[in-house]
Amino acid sequence: MRLSYKLAVTQILSLLHSSAAVLLSPQDLPHVVSTNYDFIIVGGGTAGNVVENRLTENPNFNVLVLEAGPSDAGVLALQVPFLNPTTNPRTPWDWNYTTVAQPGLNGASVGLPRGHVLGGTSSIKGMVYARGSKADFDRYANFTGDEGWSWDNMLPYFKKSEKFTPPSDRHNTTGQFDPMVHGFDGLNSVSLPGASTVLGGRFEVAIDQLGGEFMRNLDLNSGSPLGFGWMQATIDGPSASRSSSSSGYLAREFLLRPNLHVLVNAQVSRVTSEGSQDGVPEFKTVEFRVNGGGDYVSFFLLFCLLKCDIGSLFTASVNKEVILSAGTINTPQVLMNSGIGSPSHLNSHGIQSIVDLPDVGENLFDHALITLYWRVNSNETYDDYRRNSTRQDEALQAWKDMRQAPESRSMWASCVLSALRNIPHGECPSFHANFGALKHEQNFRLGPTPPAGNYLSISALLSSPGDNARGSVKLNSSDPFSIPLIDPGILADNAIDLALMREAVKSVLRLVSAPAWGDYILGPEDSTQPGFNATDAELDAFIRGNTRAGYHLVGTSSMTRKGAEAGVVDPDLRVKKAAGLRVVDASVLPFVPTGHTQAPTYALAERAADLIKAIHSL
Ligand SMILES: Cc1cc2nc3c(=O)[nH]c(=O)nc-3n(C[C@H](O)[C@H](O)[C@H](O)COP(=O)(O)OP(=O)(O)OC[C@H]3O[C@@H](n4cnc5c(N)ncnc54)[C@H](O)[C@@H]3O)c2cc1C
Ligand SMILES: *[C@@H]1O[C@H](CO)[C@@H](O)[C@H](O)[C@H]1NC(C)=O
Ligand SMILES: *[C@@H]1O[C@H](CO)[C@@H](O)[C@H](O)[C@H]1NC(C)=O
Ligand SMILES: *[C@@H]1O[C@H](CO)[C@@H](O)[C@H](O)[C@H]1NC(C)=O
Ligand SMILES: *[C@@H]1O[C@H](CO)[C@@H](O)[C@H](O)[C@H]1NC(C)=O
Ligand SMILES: *[C@@H]1O[C@H](CO)[C@@H](O)[C@H](O)[C@H]1NC(C)=O
Ligand SMILES: *[C@@H]1O[C@H](CO)[C@@H](O)[C@H](O)[C@H]1NC(C)=O
Ligand SMILES: *[C@@H]1O[C@H](CO)[C@@H](O)[C@H](O)[C@H]1NC(C)=O
Repeated sequence: MRLSYKLAVTQILSLLHSSAAVLLSPQDLPHVVSTNYDFIIVGGGTAGNVVENRLTENPNFNVLVLEAGPSDAGVLALQVPFLNPTTNPRTPWDWNYTTVAQPGLNGASVGLPRGHVLGGTSSIKGMVYARGSKADFDRYANFTGDEGWSWDNMLPYFKKSEKFTPPSDRHNTTGQFDPMVHGFDGLNSVSLPGASTVLGGRFEVAIDQLGGEFMRNLDLNSGSPLGFGWMQATIDGPSASRSSSSSGYLAREFLLRPNLHVLVNAQVSRVTSEGSQDGVPEFKTVEFRVNGGGDYVSFFLLFCLLKCDIGSLFTASVNKEVILSAGTINTPQVLMNSGIGSPSHLNSHGIQSIVDLPDVGENLFDHALITLYWRVNSNETYDDYRRNSTRQDEALQAWKDMRQAPESRSMWASCVLSALRNIPHGECPSFHANFGALKHEQNFRLGPTPPAGNYLSISALLSSPGDNARGSVKLNSSDPFSIPLIDPGILADNAIDLALMREAVKSVLRLVSAPAWGDYILGPEDSTQPGFNATDAELDAFIRGNTRAGYHLVGTSSMTRKGAEAGVVDPDLRVKKAAGLRVVDASVLPFVPTGHTQAPTYALAERAADLIKAIHSL
């Protein structure tokens, strides 16, 4: 192991040496590892933990994971699905990003949470399990010239990552999903909603009354996601707990592997190149700092009483590969900090250009999301839990005692049905609606739960934005730890996005016109919300004023054909024009899938791990 401590090492911290493999300080790394690390993974997030787990299946591979955020161990908010709204924004587990002004949103800057904790965004996300369509993956295959990314070749990886579990209430799920398209032995738990609600029954009646576009679909994860089916969530049914890449791929049995070290509070600035291989720069050394956050801080402060040097940088090296899994915002940031990107952009921040790849940080895609609200004539909604701490405490106690409380569902899993509707636009379905029995999911509309009332929310996610709805991640400073400029280009494709979103909102309005809602929906929560007879101009104004980010960022390390000038990585996810460096996270997807992005990220990371193992196990 070559780990150079520029920080003065004292014996004090080694007293804190931890027995489990989640290490709180670089001094906790054993000093007796006989070899270099074979692999360093930058980011212990959704994808990073998959790669870490699969690589350490081979006892000959020594792997170090460097995660900028704190450990997730023992944090209830990250385990209890209904506490999801307390995980972000602006918590210790969030990077707290905000977009630059979005012209498509009347110039507004909107919040953009990202997981800053072991498990990454899988530890704080909304838990919807939605893979996208066959057409998405066949398009990736066509675009990259690699059939390995096609739906038929990726389905085994979706299954490999998945552990489909019984729902928390153990109800009979026959007819609510298609077992043929699911995996039951993976490490990411998935389940159907754990309790039926008034809302679920209403949706079933409503779609049957309406018919047409509101058709039923047995399983939205079969590759054909059009229609209405039961929402699947990344919740482990039997324990009623959130499934994250940490809870699954970093479970205790894996943490005990002697060839794995996971260092939290370790934020990577850049990778450095000391030589070349086959005529291209080779990247073997990772530079990082220790963040004075999380559990580490008190130990660190103790240390600081003696001699503090908190800003110091550490380095660690590999003899096989550095794998960047820092996510769609931070992976391009680390690449640019390392001299890999657009030479003129790098030079403008005084960074020497080493690899000329102008697409680093470009092609940032997101979904756009809009939520409508109605007042309802029922107290079976989540609103009371949000505003009454006694009820929250009771619910939490019930979760601890029984793991079966109805509230063990995520609030999105209370959205029992989800919809997609095909509007002619390439091969992709155009939007995806989620239904929830609550007002104001804080991330999406501003403001807290109102003091009274019960609400229904229906969101429409623009899941196939136009190809011009793309933005970028750019450096704002030469400081490698500064916050980058993030432009997800929401509703930026003027030819397509607004028209699709308008159709989406109209479809939602048609849905709530079904007779089934008659005695349930009392009226719109907000009088400015468009009704059935709103004009297109009124709808457009509402959409521009109320749309938010969908949080499904991809594209900034886009894969393209091997040898193509455009793009950042080859179809095997190796960084172009460089050696020893690979990207494995959502940033490699060249277009946003029509599902949500977590399931595709798990599947692509499973495939990436196989690609890496195949090369290095020779
Ligand atoms: C609030 C929210 C809700 C969401 N809900 C859903 C949902 O319901 N369903 C769904 O499918 N998708 C959802 N998503 C999207 C989905 O979670 C992400 O697309 C996916 O988890 C991304 O995985 P990743 O591996 O690319 O990145 P991440 O999981 O974000 O992992 C990146 C990791 O790298 C670490 N890191 C970053 N920079 C550095 C550095 N310099 N040094 C060291 N470590 C670093 C980060 O702290 C993080 O742990 C949601 C996203 C958000 C933000
Ligand atoms: C995000 O904000 C929270 C609350 O202010 C803070 O605790 C956390 O450290 C911030 N995250 C980062 C990465 O700075
Ligand atoms: C791949 O894309 C090209 C256009 O870019 C198209 O002509 C071709 O039919 C596509 N092939 C498949 C299999 O989708
Ligand atoms: C579940 O329901 C299906 C059909 O509704 C039925 O055939 C099956 O026997 C039930 N399973 C159990 C365990 O009750
Ligand atoms: C909820 O509504 C039901 C039926 O209208 C009523 O019996 C019950 O008391 C209400 N519960 C609360 C907590 O308001
Ligand atoms: C809060 O919830 C508790 C427990 O369910 C209930 O007794 C109390 O009346 C509620 N408070 C309000 C203000 O509704
Ligand atoms: C970018 O840098 C400028 C100048 O230092 C600063 O004013 C601005 O707040 C920075 N933007 C972000 C998103 O940090
Ligand atoms: C919408 O317009 C139709 C006729 O154009 C009318 O019958 C209906 O009442 C109107 N609905 C609303 C909600 O205004």
